[in-house]
Amino acid sequence: MVDTIKAVIDTDPGADDALALMMALAAPRLNVLGLTTVGGNASLANTTRNALRLLHYLGRGDVPVSRGAGRPLEGAFQYAPYYHGRGGLTVRLPRADAGVVGVRAADYLISLASAFRGELTIIALGPLTNVARAIDKEPRVARWVKDVVVMGGAVEVPGNVTPHAEFNIFNDPKAADVVFCSGVPVTLVGLDVCNDVYFETRDIDLLDSSTASGNLQRRIISAWFALHPESERFSLCDPLAVAAALRPDLMTYRTASVRTEATDQARLGKTTASYGSGPVKVASAVRAEEAKSEIIAMLRRHPA
Ligand code: RIB
Ligand code: CA
Repeated sequence: MVDTIKAVIDTDPGADDALALMMALAAPRLNVLGLTTVGGNASLANTTRNALRLLHYLGRGDVPVSRGAGRPLEGAFQYAPYYHGRGGLTVRLPRADAGVVGVRAADYLISLASAFRGELTIIALGPLTNVARAIDKEPRVARWVKDVVVMGGAVEVPGNVTPHAEFNIFNDPKAADVVFCSGVPVTLVGLDVCNDVYFETRDIDLLDSSTASGNLQRRIISAWFALHPESERFSLCDPLAVAAALRPDLMTYRTASVRTEATDQARLGKTTASYGSGPVKVASAVRAEEAKSEIIAMLRRHPA
């Protein structure tokens, strides 16, 4: 019997988040207990609407969605309409029937971590505000959670927002420092590996045109390239984080303690690793072609 992973996905959909969510929902080994939403790519209202509508579109309105943070621990989110489109997705989706659950994200994460002690994986695809708030409110979460797979950071490579910082970490550096220093086991899937895994326009033809999810994937990516005629690469950051949760063997890791710059404005969001010991597994290399093939295979599976 293959072990099933109990997961909650914290997300700011987001074009690549949407692909990652479709992969996760279709993965036989992943039991997606629920989603928590966070601002980042777009406002919390938009990312929450996008999450609900995506689940509805996929026939997965049964998956609970808990609304999270509309702003970081300090300051405000820097949305990315230029990248993901004004509403956070490059396509419009039909209205959802279901709404959010009555529990806010930090309390929802605490309740899941407590109910599934030692079993819960958090897959974090946006700023880490919700996870940090859960740990701040109930520090035992850091012991209860099995691991946090984080899409974020730029440890040995330049950032994608500033030369120092990757988008998710830049949007809440204080939350990242709380999470990385809490002792909770973290797998850090940053630009160090994400830069090597991407789609080009010709890859759209590798996606399934005979299913609702496959067609949506093709629409999202085609619309993204239409929004970015100057780009040749659609980055698969969030899909790679889901792939890491299911196929950690696709990457190599270095054990580290990681600190995040949360005060020096010139280096805000910089993630610095001290290697040798610590709670963070920094993904330092990836078998890029194999990871891309695995992502395509996961995208082509029908949502359960
Ligand atoms: O830097 C890439 C990350 O920022 C991805 O999670 C993308 O969705 C954006 O949130
Ligand atoms: Ca994201």
